[in-house]
Amino acid sequence: MQIEPFALERWFATHEADNLMLAESGIRPLDPTRFDLVPDDFGYVIPTGGDPDLRGRIGDRYDRAADEVLLTCGTQEANFVTFAALMGDHAVVVTPTYQSLHAIPEALGEVTRVELDAADGWRLDPDAVAEAIRPDTALVVLNNPNNPTGRIHDADTVRAVYEHAADAGAYLLCDEVYRPFAGADDGAVELPPPAASLGPYGVSTCGLSKGYGLAGLRFGWLAGPREVVEAAAQWKDYTTISPPAVSQRVAEQVLDPETEAEILAENRDLAARNRDLVGAFVDRHDLGWPDPETGVNAFIEVPDGFFGGQSFCERVVEECSVVLAPGEAFDQPDYFRLGFGDETAHLEEGLERLDGLLERHA
Ligand SMILES: Cc1ncc(COP(=O)(O)O)c(C=O)c1O
Repeated sequence: MQIEPFALERWFATHEADNLMLAESGIRPLDPTRFDLVPDDFGYVIPTGGDPDLRGRIGDRYDRAADEVLLTCGTQEANFVTFAALMGDHAVVVTPTYQSLHAIPEALGEVTRVELDAADGWRLDPDAVAEAIRPDTALVVLNNPNNPTGRIHDADTVRAVYEHAADAGAYLLCDEVYRPFAGADDGAVELPPPAASLGPYGVSTCGLSKGYGLAGLRFGWLAGPREVVEAAAQWKDYTTISPPAVSQRVAEQVLDPETEAEILAENRDLAARNRDLVGAFVDRHDLGWPDPETGVNAFIEVPDGFFGGQSFCERVVEECSVVLAPGEAFDQPDYFRLGFGDETAHLEEGLERLDGLLERHA
C-alpha cells in the first residue's frame, strides 16, 4: 500500500521552526494550567473505546448512544479508523479538502473527486455527488465546515448528499472538526445537523484541536451506527488501543457545558476580531477570497504578479519570514491559505510584513 506524502505537514516541517506562522488552521492553544491534568492512574483507559459517561455525553450531540461513539487520538485517527473500517472499492470525496480525507481512501481503493465550485463561492452541488456515486461506492466523504475555504454547506445540501449516499447503501463520513468553531449549537452561525444524526448511514468525526485550541491534546471521536463504531474500534486496537488518559481527563472538563461555552465564546471572539483584520488586508490589496463563514482559515487568491501558491509562499518565507500554506496542498495552485487563529498581535505583525512585501511588488 502506498500513500502520497502529506504536503502541508512536509511544508510546515520545513518552515515552521524559525518563522512567523500564519498557516495554522486552529485557534491559538489554551493554557494547560486551567485544567486538572491528573487522571486516576496511568493505565490504559478502560474500556479502551473511552469512558462510557463521556461517550454518552458526546453521543447526545448526535442522538446516539454511548456505544455509538469511539474516542480517538485526534480527528485524524477518527477519520483513519473510519476509512479503514468502511472503505470498499470506491469512495466519492468532495474537494478541495484536508489532504487525508482523499489521500487515505486513495491509498485503500479508488476515489472520484467532486470539486466545489470556486466560481460559485465554493458551493457544493449535491447532484454532482449523485453522479459520481457508483454501484461499488462504499463511502461519500465531506468536510463541513470546509477546510480550506471556511464555507459551511447548508442543511439542504448536507441532507441531499446524505440521501444520495444512503440510497446507494453508502455511508456519509462528514469531518466536522470545524463545527464547534461555528458556534456549536448556540445559533451563532446556522449549522446543518451533524451527519451522524441524519440516519443509519451517517458518520461524524470531530475533535478538540481546532475550535477549542487543544491540538496538542490529540483528542477526537467518531459517532455513527453501532456497526461502524465496532468496526472502527477493531482498527483502533491496532493503532492507539485507547484514548490517552491525560487527554480524556481534560476532555471531560472541556465538554462540561459551562466550560465548553466559556472556551468557545473566548475563541470565537478572537477569531471574529482577527477575521476583520484579514478582511481589511484582503481589501487593501484587492485580493479575491470567499469570506470565511467560520473557522480561522482564509483561502485567498494569489496576488497578481506571482505565479502559483507555492512560489508565492516561498517568496513570502524568504522575504519576510512568514509561513503561509500554498494552495497546491489542496490542489488549488491559484490560492494560498492564511491562518488567523493566533493572538491578534502575532497576526498584526504577520500582516504588516505581508503588506510590505505586496507594496514592494505592486
Ligand atoms: C478537516 C480536518 N480534519 C482533521 C484534522 C486533524 O485534526 P486533529 O488535530 O483533531 O487530528 C484537520 C487538521 O487541520 C483538519 O483540517
